[in-house]
Amino acid sequence: MPTVALYAGSFDPITNGHTDLVRRSLAFVDRVVVAVATNASKQPLFAVAERMELISAAMGGEPRVDVRQFGGLLVDFARAEGIRMVIRGLRAVSDFEYEYQMALMNRHLAPEVETVFMIPSLETTHVSSSLVREVARFGGDVSTLVHPDVAAALRRKYGNGG
Ligand code: COA
Repeated sequence: MPTVALYAGSFDPITNGHTDLVRRSLAFVDRVVVAVATNASKQPLFAVAERMELISAAMGGEPRVDVRQFGGLLVDFARAEGIRMVIRGLRAVSDFEYEYQMALMNRHLAPEVETVFMIPSLETTHVSSSLVREVARFGGDVSTLVHPDVAAALRRKYGNGG
């Protein structure tokens, strides 16, 4: 049986922090399903289809990565897909409390689904999608934080040329 991990998020847009985590996961699982949550309370900049396209681009067509979308509960999607491992990144101590609660709630809902925490690369610990959007919105350089296609998509969205 191949080992499959689920990595879910808003990915609005995907950053080098996210891809770092996927690549780390691929070192010990056979396949990673990167799933865009469609019902997040956040007001997204990119449509779901755009976010999925940018994830594929950022993963460089890695054949062991599947890009999907899901609504509703993460554990329901995991169950429907037969996935028992959820990947999460802990960038800083401040992530811990929220992640801890979410992992316990997911365990409460689906005891067979295990959450695996990883430490992302130091260079990406300060990166989040909203900060990337904010920097890009005002014409700042995000070229070392996101894939070139993502940087180009941000420039198009914000109409700041380049
Ligand atoms: N590198 C860079 N950035 C990272 C990162 C990493 N390794 N890990 C997280 N981030 C960023 C994200 O881009 C996000 O940035 P933003 O807030 O600016 O958009 C932020 O850190 C928070 O990430 P995360 O906690 O993963 O939030 P999310 O919105 O991306 O995803 C879901 C949250 C979708 C996984 C979660 O809400 C969920 O499971 N929803 C489904 C409903 C459900 O089951 N709810 C019950 C859960 S108990």
